[in-house]
Amino acid sequence: MNSYSLIAPAKINLYLEIIGDRPDGYHELAMLLQSIDLADRVDLRPNGTQAIRVHCDDPQVPANESNLAYQAAALMAGEFSEAYGRYGGMEISIQKRIPMGAGLAGGSTDAAAVLVGLNLMWSLGLTQSELQELGGRLGSDVPFCIVGGTAIATGRGEQLSSLRSLDNLYAVLAKYQDLPVSTVWAYKTYRQQFQNTYIPLDNLADRKQRVHSGAMVAAIAQQDSQRIGELLHNDLEKVVLPAHPRVAELRDKLGQLETLGVMMSGSGSTVFALVSSQFQAERVRQELRELLPDPNLGLWTTRLINMGIQVVS
Ligand code: C5P
Repeated sequence: MNSYSLIAPAKINLYLEIIGDRPDGYHELAMLLQSIDLADRVDLRPNGTQAIRVHCDDPQVPANESNLAYQAAALMAGEFSEAYGRYGGMEISIQKRIPMGAGLAGGSTDAAAVLVGLNLMWSLGLTQSELQELGGRLGSDVPFCIVGGTAIATGRGEQLSSLRSLDNLYAVLAKYQDLPVSTVWAYKTYRQQFQNTYIPLDNLADRKQRVHSGAMVAAIAQQDSQRIGELLHNDLEKVVLPAHPRVAELRDKLGQLETLGVMMSGSGSTVFALVSSQFQAERVRQELRELLPDPNLGLWTTRLINMGIQVVS
């Protein structure tokens, strides 16, 4: 049985609108998700035992059952017990490049890589939509991470429609390494403060329908990068920025530079600037470093890409 190596890209949110409460306790969302070339590498190797073990080159990443990559393997072992019995357990080695608590789906994309890898390693022959259904049980972003690219995401974030790719644009990411934000906290706080603005449950279907004809979707279809930059939006900024003044300052400073637009990704704490060339990205990165010379501030130049999980060997 073969070992597999997979590339697991991060995502940014070009648009995140919280529409209302769902009967399952989650929020109904309207999002535009975009893969970027900042990626982890996930290696899967059969170990000849029944154990599932996670290793990571970043000691901050939990190498235990709380790791979503472990949970992905455990889910597959439970669902496909015959294959698990026949092929046994595995070593999952993660080379971590995507920062944690960043709003970049770092944990979700590692889990997506494990699903894609085990499908091959155990010769299960699952389709992409079957893998996405399994992914949705692990986390709302996992189905997108499997397919990647540029997509509208509704429901909890798991109902996807792919859009024309934006792979000619770049994003400069900025994140304080010592400042993670909890997604659970961000949504809970949003609910406490803004529940009175939520659309009633019986109007959700109608609202969801209209997401597909929204201004941002049109701007992406037309590849209008200026307009995409103007339309960047994230409702979670309303709770994360007041609670984390350093993130607010970072967004403010990035907003002073010449870019297409600036926004926080997911529940933060990453803030990104959209730019139209690698040259501009490097310039923005340098200028931000001069404005905020804090060694704790991590900066990345990334390209928007049209791919999800990739098998490299
Ligand atoms: O799905 P996932 O486990 O990644 O979500 C993390 C948390 O974010 C959930 O436990 C929930 O508190 C919040 N969330 C939400 N509505 C969504 C997605 C996530 O309230 N659509």
